[in-house]
Amino acid sequence: MFSMVKSVGIFGLNSYMLEIEADVSGGMPCFDVVGLPDTAVKESRDRVRAAIKNCGYKFPTGRITVNLAPADKKKEGAVYDLPILISILNASKQLECDTRECAFLGEVSLDGQVRSINGVLAMVITAKQSGISDIFVPFENAVEGAAVEGINVYGIKNVKQLIEHLIGFTNLTPAVPQPAQDSIINSMLDFSEVKGQVMAKKALEVAAAGGHNLLMIGPPGSGKSMLAKRLPTILPPMTFDESIETTKIHSVAGMLDKNHPIVTTRPFRSPHHTISSVGLSGGGTVPRPGEISMAHNGVLFLDELPEFKRDAMEALRQPLEDGTVTVTRASGTVTYPSNIILIAAMNPCPCGYYGHPSKPCTCSMNAVHKYLNKISGPLLDRLDLHIEVPPVDYKALSDKAQGETSAQIRERVNRARAIQNERYRGTGINCNAQLTPSLLRKHCVMTDEASAYLSRSFDAMGLSARAYDRILKVARTVADLKGNVEIQKDDIGTALRFRSLDRKYWE
Ligand SMILES: Nc1ncnc2c1ncn2[C@@H]1O[C@H](COP(=O)(O)OP(=O)(O)OP(=O)(O)O)[C@@H](O)[C@H]1O
Ligand SMILES: [Mg+2]
Repeated sequence: MFSMVKSVGIFGLNSYMLEIEADVSGGMPCFDVVGLPDTAVKESRDRVRAAIKNCGYKFPTGRITVNLAPADKKKEGAVYDLPILISILNASKQLECDTRECAFLGEVSLDGQVRSINGVLAMVITAKQSGISDIFVPFENAVEGAAVEGINVYGIKNVKQLIEHLIGFTNLTPAVPQPAQDSIINSMLDFSEVKGQVMAKKALEVAAAGGHNLLMIGPPGSGKSMLAKRLPTILPPMTFDESIETTKIHSVAGMLDKNHPIVTTRPFRSPHHTISSVGLSGGGTVPRPGEISMAHNGVLFLDELPEFKRDAMEALRQPLEDGTVTVTRASGTVTYPSNIILIAAMNPCPCGYYGHPSKPCTCSMNAVHKYLNKISGPLLDRLDLHIEVPPVDYKALSDKAQGETSAQIRERVNRARAIQNERYRGTGINCNAQLTPSLLRKHCVMTDEASAYLSRSFDAMGLSARAYDRILKVARTVADLKGNVEIQKDDIGTALRFRSLDRKYWE
């Protein structure tokens, strides 16, 4: 007898519908799985055989062939245990029910328990688009899948429970989505705790408002790490689509929080500087998203930037430019999104005190240059804002007056983002940092005064053509924060101040 049930395959973030066919016929007993299965899929045979017996069913004698179609795609992992099991029970007439509009996903243990898997959200989205009405997933993944509207997602604890539902003996209720959470971080961190550092705080506000990458340079203990960790508290809330995109990535990486399987707060990732280039940008024999994709729609913080491996830093260049990482393997090409705000922090030299107003630097000029040159020009170029974080003096530190809170700053950021959303509707970009050259000319209109000022500064500061574009983008964000339609002279002035460091340290 022949039977077919549906399931969903996944490669990287791309998922596709699969048909799991089973044929049971007379002849020498054997059990084959065909259709480009990997080792984990082949091992399904042993798990399914044991699970069928231990759930009180009969494992059919005779020749069993299971085909995973389409046969040209490599199938990975233990996701298909459940559909294989259902298909065999159907083919051997032990289960008679209509599963035409159903799909099944899940690993099965030897005693018939259903174990959680990775990538459920992406797979449920594909199932819904293919017209599946009911999808059965491991219980632990049900809330994640339930984020997709228009499809019933059932969480299954064990095979017995699933079969009783399929034959109409019991009636399971579909999983309900995670209640909408306040996506603003309830974090203990707040900008009001940072004393002084007016310029650095302004720069972080601009970075948050326009999605710009930022580099902070300063001596030890000046508050660079402290400032960076507070950036998520002033970012705009995640939209539903952003939330789903980020959750998909965390889901395939198996990094979802069991209690809150839908990511609703912008990720903040701060990998250690010993990370490899694959760990940072993604890849590996079985492709996995890197830290830059885990930070998608949020912040990637690289503390002590010069300590990172050169090849790891270089691997960031293309994803920073394109907003996606592409990994090519013999089995296919995987693309992970990587729309992030990159925040990097560093000391100006190995001892940390080069350029310090009171403490002497003990490094040779050569050592300072060598240290700074660990950051390549092209990477530096992708960081729109460069700022100095000077040591805070006693007066600022002991100041009792409370500075601006994150909530106050966030309000301005949200307003600036709303202006950008309106302006870039239908253009494929959503913030100033992503402006393409042609959109830049169109949307970064300066007053005559501002234009004359920029042209004077351009020659005086010896800026490059690339720097010109970056300054305009940053000036656009500064203007949006103030609600200026045309970019004013002051906005250009602020943008230029955020760009003077590379000349101080690197030239
Ligand atoms: N502006 C500030 N306001 C209040 N506290 C500060 C400030 N700057 C530094 N501190 C205090 O100093 C500690 C160290 O700051 P932080 O770790 O951010 O320094 P850093 O610039 O990252 O130094 P390093 O270069 O060594 O990494 C903070 O945890 C905080 O307690
Ligand atoms: Mg630090």
